[in-house]
Amino acid sequence: MQIYLDNSATSWPKPKSVVEAISTFMTDYGGSPGRSGHKKAIQSARMVYETREMLANFFNAPSSDRVVFTQNSTLALNIALKGLLKKGDHVIVSNAEHNSVIRPLRHLENQGLINITVVPCNNEGIIDLEAFANSFKPNTKLVACIHGSNVSGAIQPIDKIGEICKKMNVLFVVDAAQTAGFLDIDMKLQNIDVLTFTGHKKLYGPTGIGGLCFNEKAEIENLIQGGSGSKSEAETHPDFYPDKLEAGTLNTVGIVGLKAGLEYIQAKGIDNIRKNLTELTDYFIENLLEIPKIKVHVPSLGKLRLPVISISTDLMYPDELSRILDTEYGIMTRHGLHCSPLAHKSLGTFPNGTTRFSLGCFNTKDEIEYTVKAIKKIISDKNI
Ligand SMILES: Cc1ncc(COP(=O)(O)O)c(C=O)c1O
Repeated sequence: MQIYLDNSATSWPKPKSVVEAISTFMTDYGGSPGRSGHKKAIQSARMVYETREMLANFFNAPSSDRVVFTQNSTLALNIALKGLLKKGDHVIVSNAEHNSVIRPLRHLENQGLINITVVPCNNEGIIDLEAFANSFKPNTKLVACIHGSNVSGAIQPIDKIGEICKKMNVLFVVDAAQTAGFLDIDMKLQNIDVLTFTGHKKLYGPTGIGGLCFNEKAEIENLIQGGSGSKSEAETHPDFYPDKLEAGTLNTVGIVGLKAGLEYIQAKGIDNIRKNLTELTDYFIENLLEIPKIKVHVPSLGKLRLPVISISTDLMYPDELSRILDTEYGIMTRHGLHCSPLAHKSLGTFPNGTTRFSLGCFNTKDEIEYTVKAIKKIISDKNI
């Protein structure tokens, strides 16, 4: 028995169409886009361009020129935050952020460049909107906010946060690592100035590909300069997007896989994926809530959530529970702090963390039933 419930770390398995698209790229074409003029390079360049267009449509981003590929969300967030912030700026974040937001910001703060306000979240991991609205200062340059939590599955009210940012004329950066491919995201409607995403989670692409989309309010400086395939006569890096933020050969294998992941989601329908996964997650939560000695750290039932469930018990540490699930039952989870110490502080699960179950679109009700039985048995054995 092999049950993969670690889809928030990376989704697995990948759709067959993703694997096939990557294989076809590597065997049939696969030239370097924007570098040479031959057929294989042109075919790759077309594929990259089409993927930018698809992403711009998918997120309703203002233009495909402002869709930039990176290796993951972490790099996209570093590019956005370090490329936008200047000495003296103030930044607001929530107490649910992943380290990929808080660490680059703390790095800038430790260099004496910026100040940060961390807005509290309630015990369901949702930002306190009143405290948020009261955190603005005359030098507030941007708000960076996780869209959906990789710990509790809580979804932040980004529509309201976006409205407030617009009113305050402050840039709004959204970390959509866990939500892209699961929730509808509309940059224009939701007043998002910069959206960062990763390809290997709910977009069902391979690892090593992610990116950012941004509008004309966000003028992002580059961190890295080098080959771009454009303006080769110049000794300085081009200053137009996307080239300005894409130095070096792109991860074309990753892009072709991401494109196939997007096509897969579009063929299945993002609403259907969300509906099925939400039903399965709610079913899982309802069953977990009935197990004595288990604490379930998720927003209350009935709320829209991500397919992510964190649990803890006083009977054992999260690593022990994850280890038994893996070695005795073949159930793969993640334990600990999930790169999100702030989120655990909000939920009251710091420093031990939780055991996290994260579902993907290939999980089944049978797998969830088996997992519930396994947890019940582990808890009752430990409780003797
Ligand atoms: C909310 C959130 N933001 C950012 C990241 C970083 O993503 P990546 O590892 O692809 O850079 C993750 C990864 O787990 C995440 O859950």
